[in-house]
Amino acid sequence: MLTFPENFLWGAATAAHQIEGNNINNDWWVKEHTPGTQIVEPSGDAMDSYHRYREDMKLLADAGLNCYRFSIEWSRIEPERGFVSRAGIDHYRRMVDTALEFGLNPVVTLMHFTVPRWMFDSGFWRNPAAPDLFARFTELALPIVSEGVDYVCTINEPNIAAMLAGGEDAANLVAFGLPNPDLQVADTLFAAHQRSREVLSSVPGLKSGWTVATQAFHSTGEPGADEKLVEYGYPRDDWYLERSAGDDFVGVQAYTRTFIGPDGPIPVADDVETTLTGWEFFPPALELGVRSAWELSGNVPVMVTENGIATADDTRRIAYTDGALRGLHSAMDDGIEVLGYQHWSALDNYEWASGFRPTFGLIGVDRETFVRTPKPSLAWLGDVATRNGLV
Ligand code: BGC
Repeated sequence: MLTFPENFLWGAATAAHQIEGNNINNDWWVKEHTPGTQIVEPSGDAMDSYHRYREDMKLLADAGLNCYRFSIEWSRIEPERGFVSRAGIDHYRRMVDTALEFGLNPVVTLMHFTVPRWMFDSGFWRNPAAPDLFARFTELALPIVSEGVDYVCTINEPNIAAMLAGGEDAANLVAFGLPNPDLQVADTLFAAHQRSREVLSSVPGLKSGWTVATQAFHSTGEPGADEKLVEYGYPRDDWYLERSAGDDFVGVQAYTRTFIGPDGPIPVADDVETTLTGWEFFPPALELGVRSAWELSGNVPVMVTENGIATADDTRRIAYTDGALRGLHSAMDDGIEVLGYQHWSALDNYEWASGFRPTFGLIGVDRETFVRTPKPSLAWLGDVATRNGLV
């Protein structure tokens, strides 16, 4: 058996806008309802997890997992600039308490792509005051994380956020369409992350970091491809991993790989297996992401904050995860410190511009009745967690 360290966190991850439903005060809701949008469908009630989070967490705990990563929705806490919803804060504090009640270590993300409408309208991440605004939001969130929370992720995938801000076009969330990163936004996100960490440092024992989408860029080996790989990959991945130096942990979110030719990224080859997002089925992405995060950050402990595939065939989800975990274990055998593994995602959910079609969940959800149906992959991952090892 491949055994994992004692106290290893085994969990699943979600993001507020993708599961809660009716996040009517954020920028995504506006984009989803803008005429002519490329977003295939609006999030609507999503999985109604705003009301059903207890059931979701219980399913994870009953399966044997010991950790749950979820995000808090800024627009529910500060729906208008300056108005702070006590009820919003209490809601997320109840989520933390519920996780603790079920023996799930709550890993809380402060910002998973969405911002309040007023923040978007005031310049989004191009507003010079954005780091201050995010620091203030972090202060508002302190009562949520000040007891019983060991890990806070400040910003989810700042590298993807800087690309989205570059294009402002939601359709670009779809693989291969991402615009170039806006480097000014990247600087602002980094400043916001640092300010947020400063605020969080007032909570004794709490550890904070950001989570980076590690994209496993590979050169095609053609003339000019290696140079392009560096030029293309550095501002999209490595810059963020380098800036994780000194953090308490760095989140790694790995799914697939992307080949870079002399002119940039190339489409996935016809003869490889792909998932419902059109990405190559490539379990080693996790090991590669973890190794590069560890190296580029100067040996900051790694937390796998997302890893998974969109598929209608749950046996492929299990095969993918098994392969990814074997790679993770081999990186750990080489001395890389890994704190835990959170699978993306706990539930089938709203996959941004692609709508509800790509199913990433360990748990299926009926979109009419909201009835949850755990898939065999949940039991499988729960068994791995209970054994703390892979057979
Ligand atoms: C994001 C998630 C997303 C997942 C699959 C990550 O980029 O953090 O919100 O659903 O990948 O695309």
